[in-house]
Amino acid sequence: MTTDILTKIENRILTITFNRPDKKNAITAEMYQAMADAMADANTNDDVRAILFTANGDAFTAGNDLMDFRDNPPVTEEASVSQFLKQLVVAKKPLVAAVNGIAVGVGFTMLLHCDIVYLSETAQISAPFVDLALVPEAASSLLLPARIGHAQAAEIFMLGKRMNAAEAKTAGVASDVFAPDALGAAAQKAASMLSKKAPAALQQTKRLMRGDTDAVAARMAEESKVFGAQLLSPELAEAVMAFMQKREPDFG
Ligand code: COA
Repeated sequence: MTTDILTKIENRILTITFNRPDKKNAITAEMYQAMADAMADANTNDDVRAILFTANGDAFTAGNDLMDFRDNPPVTEEASVSQFLKQLVVAKKPLVAAVNGIAVGVGFTMLLHCDIVYLSETAQISAPFVDLALVPEAASSLLLPARIGHAQAAEIFMLGKRMNAAEAKTAGVASDVFAPDALGAAAQKAASMLSKKAPAALQQTKRLMRGDTDAVAARMAEESKVFGAQLLSPELAEAVMAFMQKREPDFG
């Protein structure tokens, strides 16, 4: 079992912690699986009333592990990343995220599925899919334009623009922003408050607010096909090679 993801259930809160700080918490297949399993269990466990995502180190997560992408491209529906993303869609319990630093790629797009998103003042969020020869995932091609408008979403996906914490709050991607040393307590407090609310009312409120999850799941499946094809493309190979060699990619 990996220790790159830590999970614990305490006081009716499932806490999922990214714990691979030396790699900026980049997510491997094993880590996706650990999160998917913990979330699937929490969904049917009446003792869990809220799920809290946190991270150790100075980054929230640098997104998918790029070397894992290249070496084990997740091109099937059974891939652990797909299982994790599905759990974000079917989650009945409220999701809280404490974003302490950089959140890249899925580190950003998973926040669109979270209900309470707290950022540290130092957080930077980005989803530079096109820069990596990829396309948006986690239904973010649907959810982000719906949340912030097409023009701003295009800057993020197509130009690779980073948002700082204040911009993310203004755009409606984050609930609130805290000083770095206050973030953990604020997120814990929110999760704790949620864990004491009337569970049926809370879960139904989430369901009503989230709307048509079939459309979200359908978009996720469509994205996944295109994403899978891009993963096998020469463009992706060049993007990963460039990252490893610490140079700009040359897409010709
Ligand atoms: N996959 C695999 N390894 C990653 C990674 C990723 N997504 N992001 C960071 N790492 C590794 C680096 O290779 C480096 O490893 P090393 O110490 O063995 O060389 C280590 O984490 C620290 O990263 P580094 O780039 O030195 O830190 P930084 O503070 O200069 O930059 C980032 C941090 C997140 C801005 C930068 O690492 C980055 O752009 N990562 C890629 C993000 C990305 O494109 N994710 C995919 C989205 S779909």
